[in-house]
Amino acid sequence: EKGGWSSFMRKEISEQPDAVANTILGRVVDGQVVIPELDGFGDEMLRDIRRITVIACGTAAYAGMVAKYAIEQWARVPVEVELSHEFRYREPVLDEHTLVVSISQSGETMDTLMAVKYAREHGAKTISVCNTQGATIPRESDGVVYTHAGPEVAVASTKAFVAQITALYLFGLHLARVRGTLDEATLAGFVDELQQVPAQLAEVLAESERVAQLAHWMADTRSVLFLGRHVGYPIALEGALKLKELAYIHAEGFAAGELKHGPIALIEPGQPVFVVVPSPRGSQNLHPKVVSNIQEIRARGARVIAIAEAGDVAVLPFADEVIRIPLAGPLFEPLLAVVPLQMFAMELSEAKGLDVDQPRNLAKSVTVE
Ligand code: M6R
Repeated sequence: EKGGWSSFMRKEISEQPDAVANTILGRVVDGQVVIPELDGFGDEMLRDIRRITVIACGTAAYAGMVAKYAIEQWARVPVEVELSHEFRYREPVLDEHTLVVSISQSGETMDTLMAVKYAREHGAKTISVCNTQGATIPRESDGVVYTHAGPEVAVASTKAFVAQITALYLFGLHLARVRGTLDEATLAGFVDELQQVPAQLAEVLAESERVAQLAHWMADTRSVLFLGRHVGYPIALEGALKLKELAYIHAEGFAAGELKHGPIALIEPGQPVFVVVPSPRGSQNLHPKVVSNIQEIRARGARVIAIAEAGDVAVLPFADEVIRIPLAGPLFEPLLAVVPLQMFAMELSEAKGLDVDQPRNLAKSVTVE
């Protein structure tokens, strides 16, 4: 039940520290990731994987896109992410060295289920990341890593998303250990960063008032753009999806590096643009590139709302608003940066008097094609 919350979505957003903590619970022993459910996947089998294909729809697919960056970096296995309904109709190349990882909160999404069946029939191994015990997709898969977000009632997915990234990160760290692609100290460092996420999420939630104000000021906005790159790119896509679903506002997410290849033409005075700013501590040095993107759009009149880590002062002269997230490992920032975007969409939906939990035309679980 909703308890004292105005909507299930508000409640579920607030439950995200627990969704992550409970998904980690019992899976880190003495600083090392253990996934007992995957015992059936012996280490030999995991070493034998030559590539991973992630299949999912909607928000679950964005969780897969985030995890692609981490799994490739940690376990050195190529990862592709594909929408289930595209995957199943394009005769994908599969063999026994392909691991197909499906992601589904409900475990009942028809296209994802059919894609898993297709993958199995064509010789791939299948693992499902699912939030619903005993659902159809995990039953049809060779293995399952459950997310422990608890039941998600609101149609718009929030806590399941952060739990999916958590489960995929655990899997990626497990894979890296088995395949020997990270030394022990580095591996332990990432496990530690993951374990800090629940407390950091609680900090982000405590800062929610600013986002609410922003949403109220922007209740008449007709279009919002979202930019990000690296792990911030899928977060930009997710921010745009949340806004479409909940506030019925035209919204689009872009990879910041694409700006000059077209989207910058959309910028006109007053256009609100959320920018997920990468950590200045990231190894790829993407931060100055995104700051210069901010300058470029600002010069054309964009109203920039930056989501940036604590202490990042470089964005200050160029952003109209800065929403802060705590310092986290660069790969773990998406788990934090998504929260203000979820809240923004929810607050805007409420400001417009819409049904936050049950947006028009949508169903929680899409069990038809
Ligand atoms: O139950 P699933 O995770 O398979 O659902 C996938 C999508 O239908 C779902 O994430 C959808 O995009 C949500 N409405 C997003 O908020």
